Amino acid sequence: MLIHITPNKKVVTEYFGSRLFSLKEATALTRTYPTGQGTSLTYDEETPAVSLDYLKADFATAGRGDYAWPSLILSNKDGGVFDFIFQSAEVRKPQNIVGLPTPHGASEELVLTCVEPVMKVTILLHYFVYESNDVFGRYLEIKNENEFPLAITRAESFQLVIPNREYSLVTLYGSWANENNVEEVRIGHGRLVNESTCGLSSNRHNPFFLLKEKGANAQKGVCYGFNLVYSGNHEESLELDAFSSLHIQSGISPLYFRKSLVKGASFVTPMAIMAYSKEGTNGLSHIMQHFVNDCVIQAQYKEMVRPVVYNNWEATMFDFSKPKLVSLMKKAADLGVELFVLDDGWFGSRDDDSHGLGDWEVNSKKIPGGLKSLSDIAALHHMRFGIWMEPEMVNEESKCYKAHPEWIIQDHLHKPIKGRHQFMLDLSKKEVQDFVVDSVSEVLNSADITYLKWDCNRMMSDFPLVPSTFFHDYILGLYSVLARLAFTFPDVLFENCASGGNRFDLGMLSYFPQSWLSDDTDSFQRYYIQSGAYLGYPLSVCSNHVSAKTSNQMLRKSSLDAKFDIASFGILGYELDLNDLTSIDEKTIAGQIAYYKEHRDLFQMGVWSEVKNFSESHLALWQVQSGDETIIGTFEKLQEPAPEESHLEGLNFKGDALYHFSSRQESISLKKFGHLANLASPVHLKEEGVLQSIVAAKKDMKSEEQEGTVSGNALLSGGVFLSQEWSGTGYNKDVRLLGDFGGRLYYLKKI
Ligand code: GLA
Repeated sequence: MLIHITPNKKVVTEYFGSRLFSLKEATALTRTYPTGQGTSLTYDEETPAVSLDYLKADFATAGRGDYAWPSLILSNKDGGVFDFIFQSAEVRKPQNIVGLPTPHGASEELVLTCVEPVMKVTILLHYFVYESNDVFGRYLEIKNENEFPLAITRAESFQLVIPNREYSLVTLYGSWANENNVEEVRIGHGRLVNESTCGLSSNRHNPFFLLKEKGANAQKGVCYGFNLVYSGNHEESLELDAFSSLHIQSGISPLYFRKSLVKGASFVTPMAIMAYSKEGTNGLSHIMQHFVNDCVIQAQYKEMVRPVVYNNWEATMFDFSKPKLVSLMKKAADLGVELFVLDDGWFGSRDDDSHGLGDWEVNSKKIPGGLKSLSDIAALHHMRFGIWMEPEMVNEESKCYKAHPEWIIQDHLHKPIKGRHQFMLDLSKKEVQDFVVDSVSEVLNSADITYLKWDCNRMMSDFPLVPSTFFHDYILGLYSVLARLAFTFPDVLFENCASGGNRFDLGMLSYFPQSWLSDDTDSFQRYYIQSGAYLGYPLSVCSNHVSAKTSNQMLRKSSLDAKFDIASFGILGYELDLNDLTSIDEKTIAGQIAYYKEHRDLFQMGVWSEVKNFSESHLALWQVQSGDETIIGTFEKLQEPAPEESHLEGLNFKGDALYHFSSRQESISLKKFGHLANLASPVHLKEEGVLQSIVAAKKDMKSEEQEGTVSGNALLSGGVFLSQEWSGTGYNKDVRLLGDFGGRLYYLKKI
């Protein structure tokens, strides 16, 4: 990154791209303006060719000839024109942003001070250099030195202006159970905005986004990636201006925002991060994955092996008893699960979602002996014990709400509306923060609880005062609560959840090292949800569960193995009624967990890449790689008639090295063959009949096994044939039967 202080004392990024080697390059990389351009205004008569209209400023205000959307909008009683000039630069040891999460491990921090002598306002531009991660961080600090208050109505964390290379914008959009869809749009002249306005970073528009130069793909081409270390309302904007320069900004959403600063007060924005790769979206994603693992996740979690989880939610929902939980625990332990998580419904009067939030005492009718008795039983089975809470919420039907109706977010004029029958506590209030910290602490201290799933199942409404800092103050309150809890309970593994991925961002990951990505556990949907997430986030932060064969969310059927093939890329868990498993299912799950544990380091800490997606090939391929080991997942969408040949193919292998590969054998249910099972069965099995179910519970077919030795070159060029797929012409031990939404994993090791 080459930052230039122009003769007019403006801060301009002249270059952001591949690493430079010498300051001697600076002159050649700096733009000159010999004659000025058309209707643009002259900033300074002494340099008539220079206009703010086409300087690539690192922050921009309005009113002095820059007609792109400003990154900073200020006003005071004298008006709204602010003209900052550079004053000084300092390189210092990186300092944390007060009150906001700051990624650690920066090698240095550059602070550029700019002043507005007339309005008496100072801007500090903070640049963090994460040298070994190839990432820059940026945030802005605004200080009012005027005796009159200063109003801030827009304060983006950064602006970067780059030359147009026909970029596309790639964002992650979605909704409940449908998170992280990848959308790519060509950036034309004008302005594009990716934004959340619901109080959470949201499943609608994730703050991560990337830019792809024309022609770039997963493997090659220039990409820029950006994210914001923030969990509230955010805005990312792209404006291709009249001179075909692309203005990139990201920060707190200005909608509903207004901060007033008295003399001597200052305001800091959250940190935005930015990265560059010329190795396509995979190259960019690798930088982001390493950065999150190295600099965002707290040090104590970095090397923490994430346990295999069992969570009772999809199995029981609210309808459980202690004996039921104990029976699930026993089964889970037998299958190899390491952490048993009791989800919603264990507290207060909560038998459905209309009661109890806010009353964090155990329901002793449901759980006689309390949580301690359950954590003791888990320990007897050599499992850890974890719990679900939704600390930011209350139901109207709760003792908490009745005692403190004033704690909820409300405007005191309208009857506040509910989401999932609940109100949101106003975490901007100190007494509410204390209540949340105390109630969570009490629960964690009441038993041997080493995991907490922190949920947040509604968005904000009935905000008391806008424009204001209301939404931002909520997030600052939340961060203060999370910091207090993470500090007090360093051994508790916290998992972030917000109806799945409604607050999946770098702010939450700064405190909680993992996140429940989505309530959608259907494996095929999950392929999309995870593919999107892994563009900007590592496997180690994404928790994925294998659920029952019929998906709750889609009613789609897929095999347990197909679900495992997707869920294993990340942190693995199970979320189905283990008492309903057949003996074949039990063997299948036990086999999956053993395989996962054998390769856990790879699945959790390896580097994910997209090898092929469904728009390129009928089989989509992912890989995860670390050192000499790789696992490649191959995924089918719909079974094709006369399927084309498929190949085992991957990335980043050493061309001249040899690799051994082997497929993971899967269980194929006799039921999959329907009436065709009779071709092999000595007794007649009526399709979907009772006898077929009885036989299928005890006997399955095994998938093909394929292994061999190949060079890196063969893998890189897709030369390794996978055995023939099911083609409707017969089945034997070499036929590769994936079927609709099926998959297969291959483990590869350099020899
Ligand atoms: C949310 C979560 C689910 C589950 C339920 C419990 O929807 O995302 O995983 O915990 O709440 O009410």
